[in-house]
Amino acid sequence: MSKKKVLVTGGAGFIGGNFVQYMVNKYPDYDVFNLDQLTYAGDLTKHSGIEKMANYHFVKADISDRDVIFSIFEKENFEYVIHFAAESHVDRSITDPGIFVQTNVLGTQILLDASRAVGVTKFVHVSTDEVYGELDFDPTTFFTEETPLKPNSPYSASKASSDLLVRAYHETYGLPVNITRCSNNYGPYHFPEKLIPLTISRVLNDQKVPVYGDGKNIRDWLHVIDHCAAIDLVMHEGVNGEVYNVGGHNERTNLEVVKTIIKTLGKSEELIEFVKDRLGHDKRYAIDPTKLENLGWKPTYNFETGIAQTIQWYLDNKEWWEQIISGDYQNYFEKQYSINK
Ligand code: NAD
Ligand code: DAU
Repeated sequence: MSKKKVLVTGGAGFIGGNFVQYMVNKYPDYDVFNLDQLTYAGDLTKHSGIEKMANYHFVKADISDRDVIFSIFEKENFEYVIHFAAESHVDRSITDPGIFVQTNVLGTQILLDASRAVGVTKFVHVSTDEVYGELDFDPTTFFTEETPLKPNSPYSASKASSDLLVRAYHETYGLPVNITRCSNNYGPYHFPEKLIPLTISRVLNDQKVPVYGDGKNIRDWLHVIDHCAAIDLVMHEGVNGEVYNVGGHNERTNLEVVKTIIKTLGKSEELIEFVKDRLGHDKRYAIDPTKLENLGWKPTYNFETGIAQTIQWYLDNKEWWEQIISGDYQNYFEKQYSINK
């Protein structure tokens, strides 16, 4: 019997990369195809441990290139499409929104068309809680799947637009889809432009850590492996057309996160530097995951265990993040922040 083919887009990035490794190891009877354009956020060195495995395949391609995507789909006839590929950083969307529309909106629409053409069994669209906008600081309020979409950044607006297209392809053409909306992930291979890996790498180098505004904004942190398990469940058990929120009730202010990392690494809080706030900075995200829990999902990490494991991973894998923060990343950092290097 031929193996089931699973297409993972964006599998050279942070979450897609963790998901590719999770799938290749968990399902030897699936052929896992990692399709990625290898933008600044994509890196294949993370897959050195699986690249020779018979059920792992890599294809370099841009999801917004219709002809290329159609020819790959026609050749491989995928059963599952798990769609992570995106421009994912809010700050970059504020300085350069155009590429977010091209990749996140147009790229998703092309994948939906190609999935329709070959008749996939399931298309899982990996989205974000940011499409719901922001919550205030009342700790009893949460995003549910019924919360109206109200994105505030060009990034979240592009993700919300892609969510609406995914929904429409289900309603109009009956494409078997699910949308997952996850809170902030952290864990191994998190690109050091994002708060947690940026803080770890800078604290380890005794450099200032930029905290936007007053540091009181709240995010709901989920370990990336718990996110991978959620997507595994949704791809196999999700009811077609349904949205599932993913989050683990781990709300922390940004300042709490930064102070936890500094304390764990035995450094001084004098490394904290408050800088100009992000434009349109969402106050708080918090997920109600009841619907996914009713499907059978439960996170395995709380924030304390997850952040300790993550800090240890960055200590053990210095060569990975050091090669990333050299080169182009330096130019990005200098443009984005006006604090000392
Ligand atoms: P990432 O930026 O680390 O990785 C994105 C990957 O997509 C990279 O490997 C990049 O090369 C690839 N890519 C970008 N444009 C492409 C294109 N045109 N064609 C093919 N590949 C392309 O992102 P991430 O943090 O791993 O996020 C993955 C997905 O999960 C995104 O859709 C994001 O919106 C969503 N999400 C992220 C988080 C989070 O906390 N990081 C939380 C919820 C949802
Ligand atoms: O909620 C899910 C989203 O989480 C995903 O959809 C996005 O792809 C992902 O990037 C993430 O978005 P955030 O904007 O929440 O993540 P980021 O790590 O950029 O910022 C986390 C918080 O930390 C946010 O309130 C802004 C703040 N921050 C961030 C950076 C990079 C700082 O204070 N200083 C910084 O230098």
